[in-house]
Parts: sequence; C-alpha cells; structure tokens
Amino acid sequence: MSRTFKNLLVTGGAGFIGSNMIRYLFERSGFEGRVINLDALTYAGNLESLAEIEDRFGAGAGSGRRYFFEKADICDRAAVERVFAEYAIDAVCHLAAESHVDRSIHGPEAFIRTNVMGTFTLLDVARNAWRGRDDVLFHHVSTDEVFGSLGDTGYFTETTPYDPRSPYSASKASSDHLVMAYHHTYGLPVTLSNCSNNYGPYQFPEKLIPLMVLNMLEGKSLPVYGDGKNIRDWVYVEDHNAAVWSVMRNGRSGQTYNIGGENEWENIKLLSVLIEKVAEATGKPASDYEKLIHYVADRPGHDRRYAIDCSKIKTELGWKQDHDFASGLEKTVAWNLEHKDWIDHIRSGDYKQWVEKNYAKR
Ligand code: NAD
Ligand code: TYD
Repeated sequence: MSRTFKNLLVTGGAGFIGSNMIRYLFERSGFEGRVINLDALTYAGNLESLAEIEDRFGAGAGSGRRYFFEKADICDRAAVERVFAEYAIDAVCHLAAESHVDRSIHGPEAFIRTNVMGTFTLLDVARNAWRGRDDVLFHHVSTDEVFGSLGDTGYFTETTPYDPRSPYSASKASSDHLVMAYHHTYGLPVTLSNCSNNYGPYQFPEKLIPLMVLNMLEGKSLPVYGDGKNIRDWVYVEDHNAAVWSVMRNGRSGQTYNIGGENEWENIKLLSVLIEKVAEATGKPASDYEKLIHYVADRPGHDRRYAIDCSKIKTELGWKQDHDFASGLEKTVAWNLEHKDWIDHIRSGDYKQWVEKNYAKR
C-alpha cells in the first residue's frame, strides 16, 4: 500500500527543484496534506517562484490553507525542532543544499556546513521527533555525482561504489551516508534518490542551460569548459519530481533509487541544440549565437561523463520520463524569455558580486 502523509516538510523549497516540487505536489501529485517549505533564502532561493502557490494555497487560501513558508537554516537545530513540533511533520523531502560545483571549488566550506551539518541536523531532529514511528519518512534528494566519473561506456547503478571528486559531490556523498547510517543505526524510515542533471523553469542562471540561454539573449560569450566533450545526462525537472514522489509513496524504506533522463549529451552538442531552440524562439539566425561560443579553461577535476541506469525505479515503481529533450528545452527557453523579472531579481543578489569576482577572467 502507498504511504500517505499529512504534513510534508520540503527543505530548499524556494530553490529550482524545490519550487517545482511544491508546484508538482499541489497541481499534479494528488497530495492532499499540508506543505511546509523551510528555506534559508540564500542567493539561490527566491520566493517569487512560488507566488502563485502562496496565493492559491498559502495565506490567500484562508482557513483552507495548505502551504506554509518558514525562513530558517537547516543547521539551526532549534528552528528545525520548532517547525517539526509546530506542524506535526510526518514526512521530509530534503532538497536544501549548496548545489553548484563551481562555487564548491571556490568556497567549499558552505557546502560542508549546509550539505553535511545541515543534513545531520535534520536527521537528528527527525529521529528525536519520530522515535519508534514507522508511518513517517525522510526522503533525501541527492545527485549522481556521488558516483564519480565514467569513461566512454557503462552506467551508474544503485550499487556503483561512491567516488566523489568535487567538494560538492563529496558533501552530498557524506550526506547520503548519514541518511543510510540513521536508517541502519536508529531505524529511521528513509528513502534516497540519486538523480542526473535537471533542467527546466526557475533554474538559477549559473547552471549550464539557463546560463547559456541568458548569455545568448544578452549577446554575451558562451563559456565552454575544456574541450566541450564532457557528457551529462539531462532530465526535465518535473520528471525528476514525479520520480521523487513515486519513491516517497512507494519506494522501499532503506533503499536508493537512481533517476535519470536516459538522455546523454556532450556539452558542445547540447549547446548546438540549445542555439537552434533559442534561434527558433527569437527569430534570429543561429550564426549570431554560434559566434559567441568561447572555449575557456577547464573546471578543475571536471568529471568526464555521467550516465544513469534507472531500470530499478522503472521496473519496481513504474516511473518513466514524460518529456523528451526537444520539448523540454523548448519549454525551458520559452520560460526564460517570458520571465525577465524573475531573472533580473534573482541575479541582482549576491550572485552578481560573485560572478563579477569569479567570472571576470572569462
Ligand atoms: P538550488 O541551489 O536551486 O536550491 C537550493 C535551495 O536550498 C535554495 O532555495 C536555498 O535557499 C536553500 N538552502 C541552501 N542552504 C540552505 C540552508 N542552510 N538552510 C535552508 N535552506 C538552504 O538547488 P537545486 O538545483 O534545486 O537542487 C536541490 C537539491 O537537488 C540539492 O540537494 C541538489 O544536491 C539536488 N540535485 C540537484 C540536481 C540539479 O541538476 N540541479 C541534480 C541532482 C540532485
Ligand atoms: P553544471 O550545470 O554546472 O552542472 P554539473 O557540473 O553539476 O554537471 O555544468 C554542466 C556541464 O556544463 C559540466 O560539464 C560543466 C559544463 N559547463 C560549461 O562548459 N560552461 C559553463 O559555463 C558551465 C556553468 C558549465
């Protein structure tokens, strides 16, 4: 029988995947309980992504309110304890994290703090709040980057040994191990998912796809790291969230599920497709954008290839991807063209100073 929850805590709900997850929960999942979004609103968190949800299900919904926002840091134990008690939390979908590899290279400490200590704090509060209960669940959203880098062939499966190689992936690997340790040691009901690269609306424009789209629209250079032949597997964010929800509802406690797009692209080939899509949307010739491509110094420790074998979630839970790459990219490009305000607002925060400092050389 599927699990049901009453009060679902989503951490990092103001971020890219989290805000799409909350929209998915209210609009498509069939979930009937309350969603409590706990987010510290770092440079990557933007409540504008959830303005419509706030109107329809938050304060705007009066006594039928089902959406609540709590500005808090997952490392702040007292705040997390209060939220667990006040809302009688019975499930956690843990997404809050520092999430960008380049930032982790320039400043690893924030990654250790939020991804390792923050996850530990959440787990420990959940263990104390839920002692002995088996009608609760802690779901941890993680990345395929914990498995390291593949050569030309092969896929990451759920049994691939961990081999993280960036401060980001090392911090996520550490959090994954803590989640499993809390399951094995304390009997905490947990599920875990490791997903490949997401793309879609509301993605912070430091990640490859939105960065390239915006640079094209603004006539800025398109920085391709190294030889441009690193490979990533891309999944549309809504497909990822549907997979996470199916694991939360029906996944076996203590198990890990790999999620992916089965959609591998060399960065430079992905960029040509993206250029075509932006050219179609703006009516400009693709050559206007192609001339913006610049090969720049490679990312230190740049993982060569990620590729996911997601047969476990497909056969065990019946999940599949609903978006092909062409339609997902078209939606993403259209969204970026239509949401200039959102982009301007999120970019005018810390992000701008950081980019000026760290990307000045490009
Ligand atoms: P994001 O950077 O867009 O959002 C992260 C959110 O977490 C932001 O709203 C931020 O304010 C919040 N946050 C950061 N530190 C916090 C803290 N200490 N306390 C409370 N909130 C905090 O990230 P994303 O791309 O949406 O990724 C979400 C999760 O999914 C992360 O755990 C990431 O590791 C994982 N993941 C991401 C991808 C991807 O392609 N983006 C792929 C696989 C897994
Ligand atoms: P990114 O979106 O940062 O995701 P991740 O590093 O977590 O996979 O990068 C995706 C790929 O694109 C990765 O191989 C690095 C590359 N890349 C560039 O070539 N140029 C860029 O400006 C960025 C941000 C990434």
